[in-house]
Amino acid sequence: MTQVNPATQANPVTPTDINHSPTGHTLMQQCLGAAACYWPVAHGQLMQGAAPLSDWLKTQTTPAYLYNLAIVSAQIRRVRAVLPAAIHLHYAIKANPHPAVLRHLAKQVDGFDCASLKEMQRVAAQAPALMAQTSIAGPAKSEAELAFAIEHRILINVESASELIRIKGLAKQSQHIARVALRINPPFELKGSGMKMGGGARPFGIDSEQIPALINRIQTDTELKQLIDLEGFHLYVGSQNRDAVALCAGLNASIELIETLCRDTGFTPRHLNLGGGFGVVYHPHDKTQNTPLNLDDLRATLHAIADRAQAQWPGIHLNLELGRYLVAGAGLYLTRIIDKKISRGKTYLLCDGGMHHHLALSGNLGQVIRRNWPIIAINYLDTQPLEPVEIAGPLCTPLDVLGQNLPLPPLSVGDVLAVLQSGAYGLTASPNRFLSHPDCLEWIIDNEGNCPTVSNE
Ligand SMILES: Cc1ncc(COP(=O)(O)O)c(C=O)c1O
Repeated sequence: MTQVNPATQANPVTPTDINHSPTGHTLMQQCLGAAACYWPVAHGQLMQGAAPLSDWLKTQTTPAYLYNLAIVSAQIRRVRAVLPAAIHLHYAIKANPHPAVLRHLAKQVDGFDCASLKEMQRVAAQAPALMAQTSIAGPAKSEAELAFAIEHRILINVESASELIRIKGLAKQSQHIARVALRINPPFELKGSGMKMGGGARPFGIDSEQIPALINRIQTDTELKQLIDLEGFHLYVGSQNRDAVALCAGLNASIELIETLCRDTGFTPRHLNLGGGFGVVYHPHDKTQNTPLNLDDLRATLHAIADRAQAQWPGIHLNLELGRYLVAGAGLYLTRIIDKKISRGKTYLLCDGGMHHHLALSGNLGQVIRRNWPIIAINYLDTQPLEPVEIAGPLCTPLDVLGQNLPLPPLSVGDVLAVLQSGAYGLTASPNRFLSHPDCLEWIIDNEGNCPTVSNE
């Protein structure tokens, strides 16, 4: 029997779907909302300055990522508009660690969340002023990571009691006091998250029922008391959530949990990282997946939580740590059609880009069912899709899928496709070395919309 990878099963597209398929321009608006205006379109063509982007691409190699920093700024403004002043906005670097993106974010966010030594070193290089507002989270931290964090006064989100003991040892060795927050694995899950990271048994965080004993230990053990500065807590229960009701329920459950823990232990936190998990629209063709997160529906809960926390723990530092919500829409993955063929009645567009640069697009980054991403033909944005096509990359594996049964306008060899929502978990979340294809370039359009500059940093 043939084995079917659930991640590569086709989405059925009926003739009715084709007739109602959105044009590329509409897809952009559906996915990006008001921020779509930062990808200007004229006469059905994606523009760069006064000329079509395709003119500029004539002299450039594809595949490539293109990051538009004005969209990052627009997303930050949208989030800030619903955040109370008391909740700081941090950026989770793992979503897109490109140095130019970080420098741009450094001017607009309040801090960074890192997941490795290199990410901390990037903050030190690109945003040194924000080092004190930087934290590191993640299981199995290496000695080098912990030592760097201790030495540079980076807040360590502790994932286990044994990690805390390792931190104590390294703090003693380096004669520094380690700044720590306990990452809590709560007893609840965040409903509707693309990736769940809390509730049940997890590698992430310390089970909430173990927290009181650990706080007690930190407060009574002489050495721990001297070497560990316990600032507060970190909760991160899930990612890619577009359901405001679920996000609010998660935030409320989180603050209630912290209140209980503090009441039971008599501990007064100075810091509380509330996580985030704000999701974006990746699958506009799918009726169950095409509703954007309505930030306005989070406003009241965020304000109530800030007031509640400040009332109990005056001066507490509160923050959210968002990754994809700030950067996903800012990125296009550009790929050129190299070949077009019919195989047993199906039209195939064979492209120079693939899963080695964009694993999530192929459906192999944690998805159970592969769904089509928003892909536009950059010179046919006002043209009604006419035929469903299969889009595949250059890798010799059936996993290298860019689109399945995806309605697009009629296209030819040489035309360029752009994958929307590609600014987060793209290049650095993909198996770049697989099959030894050339490196992928990353281009930056600055906040003023100036011509892309390539950045090999
Ligand atoms: C601890 C932590 N913070 C922040 C994020 C960022 O998530 P997102 O990019 O979905 O906002 C993640 C993602 O896995 C995470 O594990």
